[in-house]
Amino acid sequence: MTYQSKHITIKLPQEGYNTIADQYGAFHQHLNDFDRWFFLRLLPRETKDLDAIDLGAGDGRIYKLLDKYPFKSFTACDIAEKLLAKHPNGKNIKKTVCDLESTLPFPDETFDLAFSFFVLEHINDLHHFFSEMYRILKTWWEAILWYFLQRREFIRKANKDQFKIQLFNYRIQDIEKIAKDCFFEVKLHPIEEKWYLIGWNIELRK
Ligand SMILES: C[S@@+](CC[C@H](N)C(=O)[O-])C[C@H]1O[C@@H](n2cnc3c(N)ncnc32)[C@H](O)[C@@H]1O
Repeated sequence: MTYQSKHITIKLPQEGYNTIADQYGAFHQHLNDFDRWFFLRLLPRETKDLDAIDLGAGDGRIYKLLDKYPFKSFTACDIAEKLLAKHPNGKNIKKTVCDLESTLPFPDETFDLAFSFFVLEHINDLHHFFSEMYRILKTWWEAILWYFLQRREFIRKANKDQFKIQLFNYRIQDIEKIAKDCFFEVKLHPIEEKWYLIGWNIELRK
């Protein structure tokens, strides 16, 4: 994976992440270094009675970071079925292949807690995304998102193929406005590395 810039195919997330499903685990440590410590502070003290969902769960990096937090149930949903197949299994884990750009296959007010890390940048219709998140969360409950200020797409390599995965560069103030328009209370937590802003933890409350 490099940041070099040249004309290169752009794949949609489903095809792109399925193509690199076997490699994605190699980036966990890099991604964990960005967010590991801060987002855990936003979690409720007690989680064992909570139904949680990870929207764009990939191969379970977030589930693994939450290993000390028991949940009543943990639903992992993602559009890339080959990546999702690598998500840990367990008696309280449900895996669902779903498209966050469509109506989600869950009834209203199903979940207490929603996570979505490094996913917003792939979503075309943020208004729809936040509306669906609002619909499936129970009243008074919260969502925690991580938005990475990624200026350019990574170049991915699989076999002899080189490609990028489609990315949208949103401004944080636009994300905040859309979430508020969808009735969430929003708290923004900037994440800095060596005094440079690299992303945001976004805390939403219904
Ligand atoms: C950078 S990965 C992040 C995975 C995981 N959240 C993490 O932090 O390791 C982005 C994930 O979003 C998923 N994704 C992108 N667009 C999606 C969509 N429209 N519906 C469902 N999942 C999507 C991808 O398949 C991929 O697993």
